[in-house]
Amino acid sequence: MGMCFIIGFALFFLLSEISQLGLCGGCIESEKRALLKFKASFHDDPHNRLSSWNPKTNCCQWHGIACHNITGHVLKLDLSFFSLEAIRVDPSLLDLKHLIYLDLSQNNFNAISIPILFGSMERLSYLSISESNFKGMIPANLGGNLTNLQFLDLSWNHLHTNDMSWVSNLQSLQYLNLSDVYLGEAHNLFQVLHMLPSLLQLQLEGCGLGNLFAPFPSINSTYNARVQVLSLAGNEIDGQIFNAFQNWTSLEFLDLYSNNFSSMPLWFGEFKNLIFIDLSWNALCGPIPAVLRNMTSLEYLDLSSNNFSLIPSLLGELKRLRYLDISKNRIIATAMDISVSQILKNKCHLKIFYFDTSNLQGEAFGDFDFSGCIKY
Ligand SMILES: *[C@@H]1O[C@H](CO)[C@@H](O)[C@H](O)[C@H]1NC(C)=O
Ligand SMILES: *[C@@H]1O[C@H](CO)[C@@H](O)[C@H](O)[C@H]1NC(C)=O
Ligand SMILES: *[C@@H]1O[C@H](CO)[C@@H](O)[C@H](O)[C@H]1NC(C)=O
Ligand SMILES: *[C@@H]1O[C@H](CO)[C@@H](O)[C@H](O)[C@H]1NC(C)=O
Ligand SMILES: *[C@@H]1O[C@H](CO)[C@@H](O)[C@H](O)[C@H]1NC(C)=O
Ligand SMILES: *[C@@H]1O[C@H](CO)[C@@H](O)[C@H](O)[C@H]1NC(C)=O
Ligand SMILES: *[C@@H]1O[C@H](CO)[C@@H](O)[C@H](O)[C@H]1NC(C)=O
Ligand SMILES: *[C@@H]1O[C@H](CO)[C@@H](O)[C@H](O)[C@H]1NC(C)=O
Repeated sequence: MGMCFIIGFALFFLLSEISQLGLCGGCIESEKRALLKFKASFHDDPHNRLSSWNPKTNCCQWHGIACHNITGHVLKLDLSFFSLEAIRVDPSLLDLKHLIYLDLSQNNFNAISIPILFGSMERLSYLSISESNFKGMIPANLGGNLTNLQFLDLSWNHLHTNDMSWVSNLQSLQYLNLSDVYLGEAHNLFQVLHMLPSLLQLQLEGCGLGNLFAPFPSINSTYNARVQVLSLAGNEIDGQIFNAFQNWTSLEFLDLYSNNFSSMPLWFGEFKNLIFIDLSWNALCGPIPAVLRNMTSLEYLDLSSNNFSLIPSLLGELKRLRYLDISKNRIIATAMDISVSQILKNKCHLKIFYFDTSNLQGEAFGDFDFSGCIKY
Protein backbone atom coordinates (compact mmCIF):
# COMPACT_ATOMS: atom_id res chain seq x y z
CA MET A 1 0.00 0.00 0.00
CA GLY A 2 2.85 2.34 0.93
CA MET A 3 4.58 1.36 -2.30
CA CYS A 4 1.46 2.12 -4.26
CA PHE A 5 1.26 5.50 -2.70
CA ILE A 6 4.89 6.25 -3.52
CA ILE A 7 4.51 5.10 -7.11
CA GLY A 8 1.27 7.02 -7.41
CA PHE A 9 2.92 10.09 -6.03
CA ALA A 10 5.95 9.76 -8.29
CA LEU A 11 3.68 9.32 -11.28
CA PHE A 12 1.71 12.37 -10.38
CA PHE A 13 4.93 14.31 -9.96
CA LEU A 14 6.22 13.11 -13.30
CA LEU A 15 2.97 13.99 -15.04
CA SER A 16 2.85 17.48 -13.65
CA GLU A 17 6.52 18.01 -14.57
CA ILE A 18 5.89 16.82 -18.10
CA SER A 19 2.87 19.02 -18.51
CA GLN A 20 4.91 22.01 -17.35
CA LEU A 21 7.47 21.20 -19.99
CA GLY A 22 4.65 21.18 -22.51
CA LEU A 23 5.40 17.61 -23.57
CA CYS A 24 2.32 16.15 -22.11
CA GLY A 25 -0.70 17.49 -23.90
CA GLY A 26 1.53 17.04 -26.94
CA CYS A 27 -0.45 15.34 -29.57
CA ILE A 28 -1.43 11.76 -30.02
CA GLU A 29 0.02 10.26 -33.16
CA SER A 30 -3.16 8.58 -34.38
CA GLU A 31 -5.14 11.76 -33.89
CA LYS A 32 -2.51 13.77 -35.74
CA ARG A 33 -2.82 11.33 -38.66
CA ALA A 34 -6.60 11.69 -38.58
CA LEU A 35 -6.33 15.48 -38.66
CA LEU A 36 -3.89 15.41 -41.57
CA LYS A 37 -6.25 13.12 -43.44
CA PHE A 38 -9.08 15.49 -42.66
CA LYS A 39 -6.98 18.41 -43.92
CA ALA A 40 -6.26 16.54 -47.15
CA SER A 41 -10.00 16.21 -47.81
CA PHE A 42 -10.23 19.98 -48.37
CA HIS A 43 -9.36 20.80 -51.94
CA ASP A 44 -9.26 24.51 -51.33
CA ASP A 45 -7.99 26.65 -48.47
CA PRO A 46 -8.04 30.13 -50.02
CA HIS A 47 -6.83 31.95 -46.92
CA ASN A 48 -4.22 29.36 -45.85
CA ARG A 49 -6.06 28.83 -42.60
CA LEU A 50 -4.61 25.32 -42.28
CA SER A 51 -1.01 26.35 -42.88
CA SER A 52 -0.08 25.62 -39.26
CA TRP A 53 -1.22 22.00 -39.72
CA ASN A 54 2.32 20.74 -40.26
CA PRO A 55 3.12 17.05 -39.61
CA LYS A 56 6.36 17.99 -37.84
CA THR A 57 4.69 20.08 -35.15
CA ASN A 58 2.47 19.43 -32.13
CA CYS A 59 -1.07 19.15 -33.45
CA CYS A 60 -2.43 20.61 -30.22
CA GLN A 61 -0.94 23.91 -31.29
CA TRP A 62 -2.44 23.92 -34.75
CA HIS A 63 -4.94 26.63 -35.61
CA GLY A 64 -8.45 25.52 -34.67
CA ILE A 65 -7.42 22.63 -32.38
CA ALA A 66 -7.62 22.32 -28.62
CA CYS A 67 -6.44 19.28 -26.66
CA HIS A 68 -6.89 18.02 -23.16
CA ASN A 69 -4.07 19.49 -21.01
CA ILE A 70 -3.09 16.16 -19.56
CA THR A 71 -4.15 13.36 -21.88
CA GLY A 72 -3.37 15.27 -25.08
CA HIS A 73 -6.56 14.04 -26.78
CA VAL A 74 -8.07 16.43 -29.29
CA LEU A 75 -11.23 17.82 -27.68
CA LYS A 76 -12.10 20.67 -29.96
CA LEU A 77 -12.02 21.23 -33.70
CA ASP A 78 -13.13 24.73 -34.65
CA LEU A 79 -12.85 25.46 -38.38
CA SER A 80 -15.53 28.16 -38.38
CA PHE A 81 -15.00 30.93 -40.94
CA PHE A 82 -12.06 29.07 -42.52
CA SER A 83 -13.74 29.21 -45.99
CA LEU A 84 -12.49 25.72 -46.79
CA GLU A 85 -13.93 23.70 -49.64
CA ALA A 86 -14.63 20.00 -49.78
CA ILE A 87 -16.93 17.49 -51.41
CA ARG A 88 -17.14 15.19 -48.39
CA VAL A 89 -16.82 15.20 -44.61
CA ASP A 90 -13.93 12.83 -44.23
CA PRO A 91 -14.59 9.85 -41.91
CA SER A 92 -11.15 10.40 -40.34
CA LEU A 93 -13.12 12.60 -37.93
CA LEU A 94 -14.28 9.38 -36.27
CA ASP A 95 -10.71 8.71 -35.13
CA LEU A 96 -10.94 11.77 -32.89
CA LYS A 97 -12.69 9.68 -30.30
CA HIS A 98 -12.60 12.32 -27.57
CA LEU A 99 -13.93 15.20 -29.61
CA ILE A 100 -16.58 17.18 -27.77
CA TYR A 101 -16.71 20.36 -29.85
CA LEU A 102 -17.02 20.43 -33.65
CA ASP A 103 -17.59 23.65 -35.55
CA LEU A 104 -17.50 23.44 -39.35
CA SER A 105 -19.60 26.55 -39.95
CA GLN A 106 -18.85 29.02 -42.74
CA ASN A 107 -17.11 26.58 -45.05
CA ASN A 108 -18.29 25.13 -48.35
CA PHE A 109 -19.26 21.47 -48.61
CA ASN A 110 -20.61 21.85 -52.14
CA ALA A 111 -24.24 20.88 -51.52
CA ILE A 112 -23.55 17.37 -50.18
CA SER A 113 -26.03 15.95 -47.69
CA ILE A 114 -25.33 15.80 -43.96
CA PRO A 115 -23.20 12.70 -43.39
CA ILE A 116 -24.56 10.16 -40.97
CA LEU A 117 -21.15 9.92 -39.31
CA PHE A 118 -21.98 12.99 -37.17
CA GLY A 119 -24.63 10.83 -35.56
CA SER A 120 -22.09 8.42 -34.13
CA MET A 121 -19.88 11.06 -32.48
CA GLU A 122 -21.32 10.25 -29.11
CA ARG A 123 -19.21 12.59 -27.03
CA LEU A 124 -20.11 15.74 -28.90
CA SER A 125 -21.65 18.47 -26.85
CA TYR A 126 -21.33 21.15 -29.56
CA LEU A 127 -22.01 20.74 -33.28
CA SER A 128 -22.34 23.52 -35.82
CA ILE A 129 -22.44 23.27 -39.61
CA SER A 130 -24.16 26.61 -40.07
CA GLU A 131 -23.79 28.26 -43.51
CA SER A 132 -21.62 25.54 -44.94
CA ASN A 133 -23.60 24.60 -48.02
CA PHE A 134 -25.09 21.27 -46.97
CA LYS A 135 -28.18 20.21 -48.86
CA GLY A 136 -31.12 17.82 -48.72
CA MET A 137 -33.00 15.84 -46.12
CA ILE A 138 -31.60 15.75 -42.58
CA PRO A 139 -30.76 12.07 -41.90
CA ALA A 140 -33.50 10.43 -39.86
CA ASN A 141 -31.06 8.81 -37.43
CA LEU A 142 -28.84 11.86 -36.89
CA GLY A 143 -29.77 12.30 -33.26
CA GLY A 144 -29.76 8.64 -32.25
CA ASN A 145 -26.58 8.57 -30.15
CA LEU A 146 -25.95 12.26 -29.53
CA THR A 147 -27.24 12.21 -26.00
CA ASN A 148 -24.57 14.64 -24.77
CA LEU A 149 -25.27 17.28 -27.40
CA GLN A 150 -26.06 20.66 -25.86
CA PHE A 151 -25.67 22.92 -28.89
CA LEU A 152 -26.82 22.15 -32.44
CA ASP A 153 -26.73 24.66 -35.28
CA LEU A 154 -27.78 23.48 -38.75
CA SER A 155 -28.91 26.94 -39.86
CA TRP A 156 -28.58 28.61 -43.27
CA ASN A 157 -27.89 25.60 -45.43
CA HIS A 158 -30.34 24.10 -47.94
CA LEU A 159 -31.87 21.49 -45.68
CA HIS A 160 -35.32 20.14 -45.00
CA THR A 161 -36.95 17.54 -42.81
CA ASN A 162 -40.53 16.30 -42.57
CA ASP A 163 -40.04 14.10 -39.54
CA MET A 164 -38.49 15.64 -36.44
CA SER A 165 -38.08 12.37 -34.52
CA TRP A 166 -34.30 12.63 -34.84
CA VAL A 167 -34.41 15.58 -32.41
CA SER A 168 -36.25 13.71 -29.69
CA ASN A 169 -33.17 11.76 -28.57
CA LEU A 170 -31.20 14.95 -27.97
CA GLN A 171 -32.13 15.04 -24.33
CA SER A 172 -29.29 17.41 -23.30
CA LEU A 173 -30.03 19.96 -25.99
CA GLN A 174 -30.07 23.57 -24.79
CA TYR A 175 -29.48 25.53 -28.01
CA LEU A 176 -31.20 24.53 -31.23
CA ASN A 177 -30.89 26.53 -34.43
CA LEU A 178 -32.73 25.28 -37.50
CA SER A 179 -33.14 28.65 -39.20
CA ASP A 180 -33.73 28.27 -42.93
CA VAL A 181 -34.30 24.50 -42.63
CA TYR A 182 -37.65 23.96 -44.37
CA LEU A 183 -40.09 22.67 -41.74
CA GLY A 184 -43.34 23.37 -43.58
CA GLU A 185 -44.05 19.61 -43.61
CA ALA A 186 -42.58 18.70 -40.22
CA HIS A 187 -45.85 17.27 -38.91
CA ASN A 188 -44.46 16.26 -35.50
CA LEU A 189 -42.53 19.50 -34.84
CA PHE A 190 -44.45 20.49 -31.72
CA GLN A 191 -44.59 17.02 -30.18
CA VAL A 192 -40.83 16.84 -30.41
CA LEU A 193 -40.10 20.37 -29.19
CA HIS A 194 -42.32 19.83 -26.20
CA MET A 195 -40.24 16.86 -25.11
CA LEU A 196 -36.82 18.49 -24.93
CA PRO A 197 -36.19 18.87 -21.22
CA SER A 198 -33.17 21.20 -21.36
CA LEU A 199 -34.06 23.58 -24.19
CA LEU A 200 -33.17 27.26 -23.53
CA GLN A 201 -32.91 28.82 -26.98
CA LEU A 202 -34.77 27.98 -30.20
CA GLN A 203 -34.14 29.70 -33.52
CA LEU A 204 -36.56 28.85 -36.33
CA GLU A 205 -36.19 31.76 -38.73
CA GLY A 206 -37.46 31.38 -42.26
CA CYS A 207 -38.54 27.74 -41.81
CA GLY A 208 -41.76 28.01 -43.81
CA LEU A 209 -43.88 27.45 -40.70
CA GLY A 210 -46.75 29.37 -42.35
CA ASN A 211 -47.31 26.27 -44.48
CA LEU A 212 -47.29 23.89 -41.55
CA PHE A 213 -50.37 21.96 -40.65
CA ALA A 214 -49.34 20.40 -37.37
CA PRO A 215 -51.58 19.39 -34.52
CA PHE A 216 -50.56 20.75 -31.13
CA PRO A 217 -49.86 17.99 -28.71
CA SER A 218 -52.27 17.97 -25.83
CA ILE A 219 -49.44 16.96 -23.56
CA ASN A 220 -47.70 18.22 -20.48
CA SER A 221 -45.42 21.01 -21.63
CA THR A 222 -43.68 21.79 -18.35
CA TYR A 223 -40.32 21.63 -20.09
CA ASN A 224 -40.72 24.51 -22.50
CA ALA A 225 -41.64 26.81 -19.67
CA ARG A 226 -37.86 27.30 -19.39
CA VAL A 227 -37.08 28.49 -22.90
CA GLN A 228 -35.71 32.05 -22.88
CA VAL A 229 -35.01 32.80 -26.53
CA LEU A 230 -37.43 32.14 -29.41
CA SER A 231 -37.03 33.42 -32.92
CA LEU A 232 -39.77 32.78 -35.48
CA ALA A 233 -38.92 35.63 -37.84
CA GLY A 234 -39.77 35.35 -41.52
CA ASN A 235 -42.24 32.46 -41.37
CA GLU A 236 -45.51 33.97 -42.69
CA ILE A 237 -47.24 32.76 -39.54
CA ASP A 238 -50.29 34.21 -37.88
CA GLY A 239 -51.86 33.53 -34.49
CA GLN A 240 -52.79 29.94 -35.34
CA ILE A 241 -49.30 28.41 -35.28
CA PHE A 242 -48.18 30.78 -32.57
CA ASN A 243 -50.71 29.21 -30.19
CA ALA A 244 -48.32 26.28 -29.89
CA PHE A 245 -45.97 28.50 -27.91
CA GLN A 246 -48.57 29.65 -25.43
CA ASN A 247 -46.96 27.97 -22.43
CA TRP A 248 -43.44 29.24 -23.08
CA THR A 249 -43.85 31.81 -20.35
CA SER A 250 -40.17 32.30 -19.43
CA LEU A 251 -39.37 33.91 -22.75
CA GLU A 252 -37.12 36.95 -22.51
CA PHE A 253 -36.34 37.37 -26.20
CA LEU A 254 -39.04 36.98 -28.86
CA ASP A 255 -38.46 37.76 -32.51
CA LEU A 256 -41.58 37.73 -34.72
CA TYR A 257 -40.15 40.06 -37.37
CA SER A 258 -41.72 39.67 -40.82
CA ASN A 259 -44.74 37.43 -40.28
CA ASN A 260 -48.47 37.65 -40.97
CA PHE A 261 -49.83 38.64 -37.56
CA SER A 262 -52.88 40.86 -37.79
CA SER A 263 -53.54 40.79 -34.05
CA MET A 264 -51.82 39.51 -30.95
CA PRO A 265 -53.53 36.77 -28.94
CA LEU A 266 -54.85 37.75 -25.52
CA TRP A 267 -52.63 35.22 -23.75
CA PHE A 268 -49.63 37.16 -25.04
CA GLY A 269 -49.86 39.20 -21.82
CA GLU A 270 -48.60 36.13 -19.93
CA PHE A 271 -45.11 36.67 -21.34
CA LYS A 272 -44.22 38.94 -18.46
CA ASN A 273 -40.47 38.38 -18.56
CA LEU A 274 -39.93 39.67 -22.08
CA ILE A 275 -37.00 42.05 -22.47
CA PHE A 276 -36.89 42.05 -26.28
CA ILE A 277 -39.79 41.90 -28.77
CA ASP A 278 -39.59 42.51 -32.46
CA LEU A 279 -43.04 42.62 -34.12
CA SER A 280 -41.97 44.72 -37.09
CA TRP A 281 -43.14 43.93 -40.65
CA ASN A 282 -46.42 42.28 -39.71
CA ALA A 283 -49.97 43.33 -40.49
CA LEU A 284 -50.93 44.53 -37.02
CA CYS A 285 -53.48 47.31 -37.04
CA GLY A 286 -55.68 49.46 -34.84
CA PRO A 287 -54.31 50.61 -31.51
CA ILE A 288 -51.02 49.23 -30.21
CA PRO A 289 -52.02 46.15 -28.22
CA ALA A 290 -52.93 46.56 -24.58
CA VAL A 291 -51.30 43.24 -23.73
CA LEU A 292 -47.95 45.05 -23.75
CA ARG A 293 -48.98 46.72 -20.51
CA ASN A 294 -47.86 43.79 -18.39
CA MET A 295 -44.43 43.57 -19.97
CA THR A 296 -42.75 45.93 -17.58
CA SER A 297 -39.27 44.46 -18.16
CA LEU A 298 -39.26 45.41 -21.84
CA GLU A 299 -36.11 47.14 -23.00
CA TYR A 300 -36.42 46.67 -26.76
CA LEU A 301 -39.73 47.12 -28.60
CA ASP A 302 -39.99 47.25 -32.36
CA LEU A 303 -43.51 47.79 -33.76
CA SER A 304 -42.41 49.42 -37.01
CA SER A 305 -43.86 48.64 -40.45
CA ASN A 306 -47.33 47.62 -39.34
CA ASN A 307 -50.67 49.37 -39.66
CA PHE A 308 -51.04 50.78 -36.16
CA SER A 309 -53.17 53.89 -36.02
CA LEU A 310 -52.96 54.99 -32.42
CA ILE A 311 -50.24 55.35 -29.81
CA PRO A 312 -51.79 54.16 -26.56
CA SER A 313 -50.90 55.67 -23.21
CA LEU A 314 -49.62 52.30 -21.98
CA LEU A 315 -46.36 52.94 -23.79
CA GLY A 316 -45.79 55.53 -21.07
CA GLU A 317 -45.64 52.72 -18.53
CA LEU A 318 -42.80 50.82 -20.15
CA LYS A 319 -40.15 52.66 -18.21
CA ARG A 320 -37.22 50.41 -18.96
CA LEU A 321 -37.28 50.86 -22.73
CA ARG A 322 -33.93 51.53 -24.32
CA TYR A 323 -35.08 51.04 -27.90
CA LEU A 324 -38.52 51.97 -29.24
CA ASP A 325 -39.43 51.93 -32.90
CA ILE A 326 -42.99 52.81 -33.95
CA SER A 327 -42.07 54.24 -37.35
CA LYS A 328 -43.66 53.21 -40.68
CA ASN A 329 -47.17 52.85 -39.28
CA ARG A 330 -50.29 54.89 -40.00
CA ILE A 331 -50.39 56.67 -36.70
CA ILE A 332 -52.88 59.48 -36.82
CA ALA A 333 -53.32 60.23 -33.15
CA THR A 334 -52.16 59.50 -29.68
CA ALA A 335 -54.66 58.27 -27.14
CA MET A 336 -56.67 61.16 -25.73
CA ASP A 337 -54.90 61.37 -22.44
CA ILE A 338 -51.26 61.33 -23.46
CA SER A 339 -48.85 63.21 -25.68
CA VAL A 340 -45.69 61.91 -27.26
CA SER A 341 -43.62 63.81 -24.73
CA GLN A 342 -45.54 62.21 -21.86
CA ILE A 343 -44.82 58.81 -23.36
CA LEU A 344 -41.13 59.67 -23.31
CA LYS A 345 -41.16 61.40 -19.97
CA ASN A 346 -40.16 58.50 -17.74
CA LYS A 347 -37.90 56.77 -20.21
CA CYS A 348 -34.58 57.48 -18.60
CA HIS A 349 -32.92 54.60 -20.43
CA LEU A 350 -34.19 55.34 -23.91
CA LYS A 351 -31.33 55.56 -26.37
CA ILE A 352 -33.12 55.15 -29.69
CA PHE A 353 -36.62 56.25 -30.68
CA TYR A 354 -37.92 56.03 -34.24
CA PHE A 355 -41.21 57.66 -35.01
CA ASP A 356 -42.78 59.32 -38.08
CA THR A 357 -44.29 62.66 -37.30
CA SER A 358 -45.94 63.47 -40.61
CA ASN A 359 -49.51 62.55 -39.66
CA LEU A 360 -49.56 64.15 -36.22
CA GLN A 361 -50.57 67.69 -35.22
CA GLY A 362 -48.31 69.81 -33.06
CA GLU A 363 -50.36 69.48 -29.87
CA ALA A 364 -49.93 65.70 -29.88
CA PHE A 365 -46.30 66.23 -28.93
CA GLY A 366 -46.81 68.36 -25.79
CA ASP A 367 -43.92 69.99 -24.01
CA PHE A 368 -40.83 67.91 -23.87
CA ASP A 369 -40.00 67.50 -20.23
CA PHE A 370 -37.60 64.87 -18.99
CA SER A 371 -37.73 66.00 -15.38
CA GLY A 372 -38.89 62.53 -14.37
CA CYS A 373 -35.41 61.24 -15.14
CA ILE A 374 -32.47 61.70 -12.87
CA LYS A 375 -29.79 63.43 -14.89
CA TYR A 376 -26.10 62.70 -14.49
C1 LIG B 1 -5.93 23.79 -19.76
O1 LIG B 1 -5.10 24.89 -20.15
C2 LIG B 1 -5.80 26.04 -20.51
C3 LIG B 1 -4.82 27.05 -21.06
O2 LIG B 1 -3.66 27.13 -20.26
C4 LIG B 1 -6.57 26.54 -19.30
O3 LIG B 1 -7.30 27.70 -19.64
C5 LIG B 1 -7.51 25.45 -18.85
O4 LIG B 1 -8.20 25.85 -17.69
C6 LIG B 1 -6.80 24.16 -18.59
N1 LIG B 1 -7.76 23.11 -18.37
C7 LIG B 1 -7.64 22.21 -17.40
C8 LIG B 1 -8.71 21.17 -17.36
O5 LIG B 1 -6.71 22.22 -16.61
C1 LIG C 1 -25.65 4.34 -32.43
O1 LIG C 1 -25.04 3.36 -31.65
C2 LIG C 1 -25.46 2.04 -31.95
C3 LIG C 1 -24.82 1.10 -30.95
O2 LIG C 1 -23.47 1.43 -30.76
C4 LIG C 1 -25.05 1.72 -33.39
O3 LIG C 1 -25.49 0.43 -33.73
C5 LIG C 1 -25.71 2.75 -34.32
O4 LIG C 1 -25.27 2.54 -35.64
C6 LIG C 1 -25.34 4.14 -33.90
N1 LIG C 1 -26.10 5.09 -34.69
C7 LIG C 1 -25.53 6.00 -35.48
C8 LIG C 1 -26.44 6.93 -36.19
O5 LIG C 1 -24.34 6.10 -35.61
C1 LIG D 1 -28.25 29.86 -33.89
O1 LIG D 1 -28.87 29.90 -32.63
C2 LIG D 1 -27.99 29.73 -31.54
C3 LIG D 1 -28.81 29.58 -30.28
O2 LIG D 1 -29.69 30.64 -30.09
C4 LIG D 1 -27.02 30.89 -31.51
O3 LIG D 1 -26.11 30.75 -30.44
C5 LIG D 1 -26.26 30.94 -32.84
O4 LIG D 1 -25.42 32.07 -32.89
C6 LIG D 1 -27.23 30.98 -34.01
N1 LIG D 1 -26.51 30.82 -35.26
C7 LIG D 1 -26.46 31.77 -36.19
C8 LIG D 1 -25.71 31.43 -37.44
O5 LIG D 1 -26.98 32.86 -36.04
C1 LIG E 1 -48.58 36.20 -45.63
O1 LIG E 1 -48.76 37.51 -46.16
C2 LIG E 1 -48.22 37.65 -47.48
C3 LIG E 1 -48.30 39.11 -47.84
O2 LIG E 1 -49.52 39.66 -47.46
C4 LIG E 1 -49.01 36.75 -48.41
O3 LIG E 1 -48.50 36.87 -49.72
C5 LIG E 1 -48.88 35.31 -47.94
O4 LIG E 1 -49.68 34.46 -48.72
C6 LIG E 1 -49.30 35.16 -46.49
N1 LIG E 1 -48.95 33.82 -46.07
C7 LIG E 1 -49.78 33.01 -45.43
C8 LIG E 1 -49.25 31.65 -45.09
O5 LIG E 1 -50.91 33.34 -45.12
C1 LIG F 1 -45.56 17.42 -16.12
O1 LIG F 1 -44.25 16.88 -16.13
C2 LIG F 1 -43.49 17.24 -15.01
C3 LIG F 1 -42.07 16.74 -15.22
O2 LIG F 1 -42.07 15.47 -15.77
C4 LIG F 1 -44.16 16.65 -13.75
O3 LIG F 1 -43.42 17.00 -12.61
C5 LIG F 1 -45.58 17.22 -13.64
O4 LIG F 1 -46.24 16.63 -12.53
C6 LIG F 1 -46.37 16.95 -14.90
N1 LIG F 1 -47.64 17.66 -14.84
C7 LIG F 1 -48.78 17.14 -15.28
C8 LIG F 1 -49.98 18.01 -15.17
O5 LIG F 1 -48.85 16.01 -15.74
C1 LIG G 1 -50.49 24.64 -21.93
O1 LIG G 1 -50.51 24.05 -20.66
C2 LIG G 1 -51.79 23.57 -20.28
C3 LIG G 1 -51.70 23.12 -18.84
O2 LIG G 1 -50.59 22.31 -18.63
C4 LIG G 1 -52.20 22.45 -21.23
O3 LIG G 1 -53.48 21.98 -20.89
C5 LIG G 1 -52.21 22.98 -22.66
O4 LIG G 1 -52.46 21.91 -23.55
C6 LIG G 1 -50.87 23.62 -22.99
N1 LIG G 1 -50.99 24.25 -24.28
C7 LIG G 1 -50.06 24.10 -25.23
C8 LIG G 1 -50.35 24.79 -26.52
O5 LIG G 1 -49.03 23.48 -25.06
C1 LIG H 1 -51.84 41.61 -16.72
O1 LIG H 1 -51.59 40.82 -15.60
C2 LIG H 1 -52.71 40.71 -14.75
C3 LIG H 1 -52.30 40.01 -13.47
O2 LIG H 1 -51.38 38.98 -13.73
C4 LIG H 1 -53.81 39.95 -15.49
O3 LIG H 1 -54.94 39.79 -14.68
C5 LIG H 1 -54.19 40.75 -16.72
O4 LIG H 1 -55.12 40.05 -17.49
C6 LIG H 1 -52.95 41.04 -17.56
N1 LIG H 1 -53.30 41.99 -18.59
C7 LIG H 1 -53.15 41.76 -19.86
C8 LIG H 1 -53.55 42.87 -20.78
O5 LIG H 1 -52.68 40.72 -20.27
C1 LIG I 1 -52.35 48.40 -44.11
O1 LIG I 1 -53.67 48.67 -44.46
C2 LIG I 1 -53.82 49.00 -45.81
C3 LIG I 1 -55.27 49.44 -46.02
O2 LIG I 1 -56.16 48.72 -45.22
C4 LIG I 1 -53.46 47.80 -46.67
O3 LIG I 1 -53.58 48.12 -48.04
C5 LIG I 1 -52.01 47.45 -46.39
O4 LIG I 1 -51.66 46.26 -47.09
C6 LIG I 1 -51.82 47.22 -44.91
N1 LIG I 1 -50.40 47.03 -44.65
C7 LIG I 1 -49.95 46.05 -43.91
C8 LIG I 1 -48.46 46.04 -43.67
O5 LIG I 1 -50.68 45.22 -43.42
